[in-house]
Amino acid sequence: MKIAVLPGDGIGTEIVAEAVKVLQALELPLELEYAPVGGAAFEASGHPLPEATLKLAREADAVLFGAVGDWKYDTLERALRPEQAILGLRKHLGLFANFRPAICYEQLVGASSLKPELVAGLDILIIRELTGDIYFGQPRGRRVATDGHFPGAEEAFDTMRYSRPEIERIAHVAFQAARKRNKKVTSVDKANVLETFQLWKDVVTEVGQQYPDVTLEHMYVDNAAMQLVKAPKKFDVIVTGNMFGDILSDEASMLTGSIGMLPSASLNAKSQGLYEPSHGSAPDIAGQGIANPLATILSAAMMLRFSLNQPEAAERIETAVKQVLAQGLRTPDIWSAGTTKVGTAQMGDAVVRALG
Ligand code: NAD
Ligand code: IPM
Ligand code: MN
Repeated sequence: MKIAVLPGDGIGTEIVAEAVKVLQALELPLELEYAPVGGAAFEASGHPLPEATLKLAREADAVLFGAVGDWKYDTLERALRPEQAILGLRKHLGLFANFRPAICYEQLVGASSLKPELVAGLDILIIRELTGDIYFGQPRGRRVATDGHFPGAEEAFDTMRYSRPEIERIAHVAFQAARKRNKKVTSVDKANVLETFQLWKDVVTEVGQQYPDVTLEHMYVDNAAMQLVKAPKKFDVIVTGNMFGDILSDEASMLTGSIGMLPSASLNAKSQGLYEPSHGSAPDIAGQGIANPLATILSAAMMLRFSLNQPEAAERIETAVKQVLAQGLRTPDIWSAGTTKVGTAQMGDAVVRALG
């Protein structure tokens, strides 16, 4: 089983090193091949997603990805910025279905910014469409306005768009996932304002008729943002577009204690997958050895389950993570009084030990 390992920038290298430690400790026949991506690749070769990196990702059974980005690239032309690497991988590999499970582990109930009773036992799944929406819609650019409030002024524009088949396939993914869970799908849209999301709502409703055993509700995104912090346990599966899913998943991460706890899997129609934490390269803490590696380690578990057909190994990792939390080990982002503060590598080592 060949895994393309793309650590990237900032804390990406630190957290991926810990996930690799854990994978290697499983003693499975895994072949890991590393390649540069993001700012690191730009420095080395002048492009954030070099052809060789893309080729490796295409040919691997799965991709383990860290994070990309740094403030110092914010003035580069867009095509050369580190973020284009992850957007390019999603697009070129067709990774349209992004799973972001937000699970609040018992031991971290107190680490959430919400009251313990709101998050205790929380287990929701955000399914974010990942290759469409305003992220990829054309045209986009800058121009001189010929109409609007300020004709003659410089303006910028992006295009929000979804086609029926794009909505159909992500809706099927959501209903099928809900069937294996609590059989409820909340489709999050902005159909009251946007035509793109009226089509979204119509198509999700139609697809839902094929899943009579699953309850479907629709919710506007502004209300969903509020409900997520009011009563998050009322959700089971949330399905939404690329941009709303980006925002709501960062919000949901705090229900679990920290953005450092939120893993993700991005799958294509062939169930090839890219696995990465939901957070970014965290330049504010990079190089300090304090980043939480658990989101990446849990992403590696998702990789074993979804792409490598190793559900037992996945479960071993998830159980080990619960054990180290039960031992009271905490990186600073999830630390609270009475627990033991550890760094990135100590946390990774503890997970390896807990694998037994
Ligand atoms: P971020 O997710 O990198 O960081 C947000 C905050 O969360 C920071 O305070 C950071 O220290 C903290 N944080 C994130 N991960 C953590 C972890 N594992 N442990 C402890 N704390 C953690 O978001 P940002 O600061 O808005 O973006 C930084 C860079 O990352 C930008 O260039 C952005 O474009 C990029 N980014 C990349 C990805 C990706 O590669 N998929 C995702 C999000 C952001
Ligand atoms: C994420 C990130 C990316 C996104 C950026 C870095 C392109 O925020 O994976 O959530 O917006 O999708
Ligand atoms: Mn994001």
